[in-house]
Amino acid sequence: MVVPPVEELVDYILIEEVQLKTRVAELAKSINDDYRQLSPVLLVGILKGCVLFLTDLSRSLTVPHAIDFLDISSYGAGMRQSTGDIRVLMDLHQSIEGYHVLVVEDIVDSGRTLNHVIRRLEARKPASLKICTLLNKAERREIPVPLSYVGFTIPDVFVFGYGLDIDEYYRNLPHIAVVKPDIQIHS
Ligand code: PRP
Repeated sequence: MVVPPVEELVDYILIEEVQLKTRVAELAKSINDDYRQLSPVLLVGILKGCVLFLTDLSRSLTVPHAIDFLDISSYGAGMRQSTGDIRVLMDLHQSIEGYHVLVVEDIVDSGRTLNHVIRRLEARKPASLKICTLLNKAERREIPVPLSYVGFTIPDVFVFGYGLDIDEYYRNLPHIAVVKPDIQIHS
């Protein structure tokens, strides 16, 4: 399999690197303000899309916090939207009882993944549970989910870069790009 060069995949850049940096700093400031008096704080990243956003956000947080990850998949390879088939690939490594938990997502689409995550985590008695997502594809929502921190609300286009993949590739792009119509890496 040959992975096409990114230039062949990108239709246009939706969110530039500088916009991401600015917005992540703004989100971190809000979180620092809101969590100043709270302890212990735990960031829960939903793998894999959260990774770039979570690491940038974490570096901008001044509130002491631990980090853990849930690996949940809802899109199959080659899919352009979630299948609704949610699979837990890896659970948290620690108890969250008594923690102020901030779930960090790259994108909320149908809301099915977060709905599952919220129900799963609330059963474990956190002191509080909030959601921070970089991207919100609001018009695709099927299940309402409470979003406390949103980076950008975006239209219903397939995006990749800055943690989000196209068929598992190009998560490393420093910006958020829109894929050309009808492009697939895997046949
Ligand atoms: C994406 C994204 C969210 C979910 C959003 O994960 O990271 O977790 O889909 O979709 P939903 O709101 O319709 O449930 P994906 O399954 O693509 O896994 P990945 O993060 O490993 O790429």
